[in-house]
Amino acid sequence: MEKLVVLTGSGISAESGIKTFRDNGGLWEEFDVTEVASPKAWEHNRSLVMRFYNERRKALLEANPNGAHFALAELEKKFDVQIITQNVDDLHERAGSSNVLHLHGELKKVRCPVNEQEIYELDGWELKEGSLSKGGHQLRPHIVWFGEAVPAMEKAVPLVNEADIFLVVGTSLNVYPAAGLINYTRNETPIYVIDPGEPVGIGSMDVHFIQKKATEGMKDFIKKIV
Ligand code: OAD
Repeated sequence: MEKLVVLTGSGISAESGIKTFRDNGGLWEEFDVTEVASPKAWEHNRSLVMRFYNERRKALLEANPNGAHFALAELEKKFDVQIITQNVDDLHERAGSSNVLHLHGELKKVRCPVNEQEIYELDGWELKEGSLSKGGHQLRPHIVWFGEAVPAMEKAVPLVNEADIFLVVGTSLNVYPAAGLINYTRNETPIYVIDPGEPVGIGSMDVHFIQKKATEGMKDFIKKIV
């Protein structure tokens, strides 16, 4: 089976009602990223950070996977599919994808700030002040914040290098190191990009660009590769 590696961003979940970050009306227009998604914010304005992620979690519990998530899961019948996502939602998993690597963490999980391997599945939408890890530390969202390392990159780079086909869906490719993954494809590997906008990170790269929303774009992509 050919290996299809897919890098996804918030755009793939837009049609499920999840907000993107940098589009008009995106989250970073409404919030200052350094005030809600950084270790400093957690230190100085914990209640705002908690509220921000609690709201995101609430929205996620009300959302469902869309046709693009389902199409990727369905492609497992014909390809060895590996998803690498910048998204913290669980819509790929809920659509049935088996191999999902989260680069930026997972919204439904929380962890101990001291022992980072101590990760808990949160029951419901709310992380509360006073919810403690075994060691007595306030639990934090299991999210990679700005300025923090992205440990999953170590797994992602060799996966991208193994790709026979590389697909990018719904990401502006603005945020590193994730955006740099595209550079680890082999020379002969075709790269497809699905996005209704113009992802800045593509630049002058030689890609097959499908300028459509994720659900429609996936249909075109499947026609091209199957
Ligand atoms: P962005 O908001 O930067 O980019 C979203 C992309 O999705 C844009 O290129 C849009 O054109 C595209 N898009 C919008 N609607 C779409 C649709 N229906 N179908 C397909 N594409 C659509 O979001 P990301 O690239 O995901 O990190 O952002 C990367 C990281 O920056 C996030 O993981 C997050 C953020 O700060 C952290 O919070 C650590």
